[in-house]
Amino acid sequence: MDYVEFTPKSRELFERARKVLPGGVSYVIRYVDPYPFYVVKAKGCRLWDVDGNEYIDFWMAHGAVVTGHGYEPVINAVREQLEYGLHMGWCNEWEIKWAEAVCRWFDADMVRPTNSGTEANMYAVRLARAYTGKEKVGKFEGGWHGGYDGLHKAVTYPYDKPASLGLTEGALKYIITLPYNDLDGVRKRIKGEDVACIIIEPVLGAGGCIPADKEFLKGLRELCDDMGILLIFDEVITGFRFYKGAQHYYGVKPDLTTLGKAVGGQFFPGAGAFCGREDIMELLDHIKRPNFWERAFHGGTYVGNALTMRAGCTLITELEKNADKFYPYMDQLGERFRKGLEDVFSSYGFEAYVTGVGSMIGIHFTREKPVDGITSERTKDVEMCNKFFRHMLNNKVVYVSALKPHLFISVAHTEKEIDTFVSLTEEFVKRNVKEKK
Ligand SMILES: Cc1ncc(COP(=O)(O)O)c(C=O)c1O
Repeated sequence: MDYVEFTPKSRELFERARKVLPGGVSYVIRYVDPYPFYVVKAKGCRLWDVDGNEYIDFWMAHGAVVTGHGYEPVINAVREQLEYGLHMGWCNEWEIKWAEAVCRWFDADMVRPTNSGTEANMYAVRLARAYTGKEKVGKFEGGWHGGYDGLHKAVTYPYDKPASLGLTEGALKYIITLPYNDLDGVRKRIKGEDVACIIIEPVLGAGGCIPADKEFLKGLRELCDDMGILLIFDEVITGFRFYKGAQHYYGVKPDLTTLGKAVGGQFFPGAGAFCGREDIMELLDHIKRPNFWERAFHGGTYVGNALTMRAGCTLITELEKNADKFYPYMDQLGERFRKGLEDVFSSYGFEAYVTGVGSMIGIHFTREKPVDGITSERTKDVEMCNKFFRHMLNNKVVYVSALKPHLFISVAHTEKEIDTFVSLTEEFVKRNVKEKK
């Protein structure tokens, strides 16, 4: 059965949505051709739409949900908090408990909460400029750090096109775009430049779930040290998908870490943070620096609200308690997933690659193995991407996006969902196989 046959109510809702939401959506990434399905319930790794369809979810709320939709310990904590107040606009003990938990998890000295991953990156870049007295920022091709002007470049291929309308030359001229997994390339592009910080996703997320090479990250760390550049890890996705973040997995310590998604308990807005060394973070300290012109500003109406802080603190505590169980479990599911897909592609000689690590999986209909943003894009078979997406959708298995399949698993997934995806892939491949060139 085709998607449009089992989603009539979603079609009607989309007609209404188009009149009041540009493009009918709140975020373009959630659009599904020819209209999105409207979710009424999410539990574990499953979603239900307005038409009563049940889907297997491999998007997991932008990768934010690590322990499954409706994860009880967090939901129960928040239920209790509802009685006391959510956003009081004053200090509350939960922000301290949350900050202690984040600092423990990342072995950081200090942290500040933000309202989103975008904001976390915006403030981290500001802080890096304040600390170093330098202005330029290095970011990687295909890297996504949110919609902040100062990092909104070389996001979508081809990277020489403006990533959005409305960006000023003034903002863009301070961004140096860098090649992922290519230390010599990075060296060449920053030579002679006045660089305050280099920001990197240790695993390119939206750029295709492509892990950095360990040696590359180590080299980047050394390069930053040599040149007085702050190294920022954007761990908005990876922060809680690895035990203690990608920095622990790779054994490379950034100067600052930016966070989002799960740091706020995985279901709640106001989910973001930046953390790191005291000598950098103290630039925000109004007691040590009473004059506003001698410190960096950060703040916001909803930052540190009791709801998000309690949710985030509860989740991190649960992750700490269950680390021995959760992380090996997700890793093993991820391995099964990647191997299953690779076996299907290779046994049929099908032109596709699988990337990822841990609970993150990237699927690439390319002629070359992706190691960076460019190789994940330049030989992409767009028609195949769309066909594959539709095949999964018709079988009520969902991920984001058609052209950039990056999938996330959670503690709530089981081998059953993984094996369903793999066997649906085999069905697809059998039908669409063509010889590898
Ligand atoms: C790596 C990374 N950084 C930053 C962001 C932006 O976070 P937010 O959407 O919370 O602003 C995202 C969001 O997907 C992300 O994946």
